[in-house]
Amino acid sequence: MIILVTGGAGFIGSHFTKMTLKNGNRVVVLDKLTYAGNLENLKEIKNHPNFRFYKGDICNKKLVEKILKNEGPEVIINFAAETHVDRSILDAEAFIDTDVKGTFVLLQAARKFPIKLFIQVSTDEVYGSIPEGSFKETDALNPSSPYSASKAAGDRLAYSYWVTYKSPVIILRPCNIYGPNQYPEKFIPLFITNAIEGKPLPLYGDGKQVRDWLYVTDLCEAIELIIQKGALGEVYNIAASNEKNNLEIAQKIVEILGKDKSLIQHVKDREGHDRRYSMSSSKVLQLGWKPRVNLEQGLKETIQWYLNNRPWWEKIKRGRYSKYYQKQYAHRV
Ligand code: NAD
Ligand code: DAU
Repeated sequence: MIILVTGGAGFIGSHFTKMTLKNGNRVVVLDKLTYAGNLENLKEIKNHPNFRFYKGDICNKKLVEKILKNEGPEVIINFAAETHVDRSILDAEAFIDTDVKGTFVLLQAARKFPIKLFIQVSTDEVYGSIPEGSFKETDALNPSSPYSASKAAGDRLAYSYWVTYKSPVIILRPCNIYGPNQYPEKFIPLFITNAIEGKPLPLYGDGKQVRDWLYVTDLCEAIELIIQKGALGEVYNIAASNEKNNLEIAQKIVEILGKDKSLIQHVKDREGHDRRYSMSSSKVLQLGWKPRVNLEQGLKETIQWYLNNRPWWEKIKRGRYSKYYQKQYAHRV
C-alpha cells in the first residue's frame, strides 16, 4: 500500500512512518519542517527504497496535487498540524492556516484522485473538559483553546466531505501521547529534560489537571488496525485509560530520575486550562486494539531515550526554542 503521511517529520508522524514502512508499506512524507518538524526523527529510514520525503506545506494546493499525481497514494494520513496549546494562546494564526486551511486543501485535492482512505488525525481536546465520566464519539464538541478549536474545525470539515462528497474519511481522536522524539515544549519531555539538567519543572496552577497518557507506538498500532478494519465516515476515540494528574506525572519523572522533588515549582496557570480529558475507546477496542505499554514502563523507556539522546534535545533547547521558552516561562512566573 502507498501511504501519504503529512507531518511525518514530527513526533507521532515519524513513529508511524517508521512502523508502517517496517510493515511493508511504501511511505511518502510531506512535511513543512516547522520548528516542530525534524529530519533527525527519520534518519534511520532516509535511504529506505520505499520512503520518499517532500519538504512543503499542506496549504500548497499545487504541491499537494503534484504529489498525489506522481506518487499515487491510496491512503492519506493527515498528522500535519500546529499542535502546542500554549503557542496557540500566544498567537493562533498558524493554527488556522495549517489545522483548518491545510486540512481543507488536502480534502479538496483528495477528491481529484483515487484515494481509498483519508485519515484525519484529530484530538480528544475537541470535546473540551469533562469533570467526570468519559466522552463517546457521538458527544458534542466543545473546544476551548484556539488549538482545539482549529482541530475541531479540521475534524468537522473532514466529516462534511464524507457526508457531502462521500470522500472516504475516518477521523481519529487520540488522547495525550508521549514517548521518544516528542518536542521538549510539551509537558513530559519538558519535565524530563529540565529534570536531567537540574532546572525547575514549571507546573501550571495546582497541577491537578487530569490527562490520559498513551505511549506513541500503541497509538501507531491503533492507526494500522483502523486502516485495515475501520469503517468509513466513523470517528474513533483512542484512549489509554491511564488518567493521571500532572503533579503525579511530575513526581514520577523526578522519582525515576532520582532527582529532588523541590524541582517541581507551581507557576501561573495556563489561560482557559482544560481541567480533565477523558474518552471511552470502546469502538477501537472492539476492532481488536489494546494498548500494550503501561505508564510506568512507557515513562521509563521515554526517560531512557532522553538520557541517551541528549544532542537531539539540547540542540532544540539551545536554538529557536529557547526564545519561545523564555517568553512562555516569563509569562507564567
Ligand atoms: P508535532 O508538532 O510533533 O508535529 C507536527 C508536524 O507537522 C511537524 O513535523 C511539522 O513540521 C508538520 N507541519 C506543521 N505544519 C505543517 C504544514 N503546514 N504543512 C506540512 N507539515 C506541517 O505534532 P504531534 O504531536 O506529532 O501531533 C501529530 C498530530 O496528532 C497532530 O495533528 C495533533 O493535533 C495530533 N494529536 C497529537 C497528540 C499528542 O499528544 N501529541 C494527541 C492527539 C492528537
Ligand atoms: O490531549 C491531546 C493533546 O495533548 C494534543 O492534541 C496536543 O497536540 C498536545 O500538545 C497535548 O495537549 P496538552 O495541552 O494536554 O499537552 P501539554 O504537553 O502542553 O500539557 C499537558 C498538561 O501539562 C496540561 O495540563 C498542561 C500541563 N503543563 C504543560 C506544560 C508545557 C504544565 O503544567 N507545565 C508545562 O510547562
